[in-house]
Amino acid sequence: MIEGFFNCSIMARAQKKGIAEIHIHNLRDYTTDKYRRVDDYPFGGCAGMVMKIEPIARCISALKEERHYDEIIFTTPDGEQFDQPMANTLSMKENLMILCGHFKGIDYRIREHFITKEISIGDYVLTGGELAAAVITDSIVRIIPGVISDEQSALSDSFQDNLLAPPVYTRPAEYNGWKVPDILLSGHEAKIREWEFQQSLERTQKLRPDLLKDK
Ligand code: ADE
Repeated sequence: MIEGFFNCSIMARAQKKGIAEIHIHNLRDYTTDKYRRVDDYPFGGCAGMVMKIEPIARCISALKEERHYDEIIFTTPDGEQFDQPMANTLSMKENLMILCGHFKGIDYRIREHFITKEISIGDYVLTGGELAAAVITDSIVRIIPGVISDEQSALSDSFQDNLLAPPVYTRPAEYNGWKVPDILLSGHEAKIREWEFQQSLERTQKLRPDLLKDK
């Protein structure tokens, strides 16, 4: 499901350039029974299936023998809300492991004994944690210096500095009578930066006033 995603576009380029390494592990490869089962019925008789402890414990232990992990992350809707500051912090780490949840959940002992950080990408429930892991990885990798060709462009993203990004335009300067703001064509670098900052502030006040509350 996520192999294709990581082999495309900027994620693929980051790996080719040797800036990031992304390895995907299939928990079924860490089973020992002939059906390669990774889930089982929950104790207590409630509905749904739960991911078994042994394949996950075996996989995590095997990976930990190969390298030190700064965080072992579990993707779950009841985790800490993922945001740009968290992406920034995680992008400065050396090695991260992300365990994708599935079915009704994973045996809680994994969370108690192996997981160092639990992350939710939003207040909604996905079928599995793979897409959440892809979202988290993408946002972490893209801000590593050298991944995006113009490093400045990652720094001027929305949410860096708790502000939404200003509007951007490209050629033609006029289309269908719709004009690009004059200031952007003026060549006054300082005035343009000031305009962009004011636009960021106005858009944030209008669209996401909650972001300005901590300021
Ligand atoms: N798995 C299922 N839903 C999720 C969410 N919202 N965030 C992270 N992992 C999840």
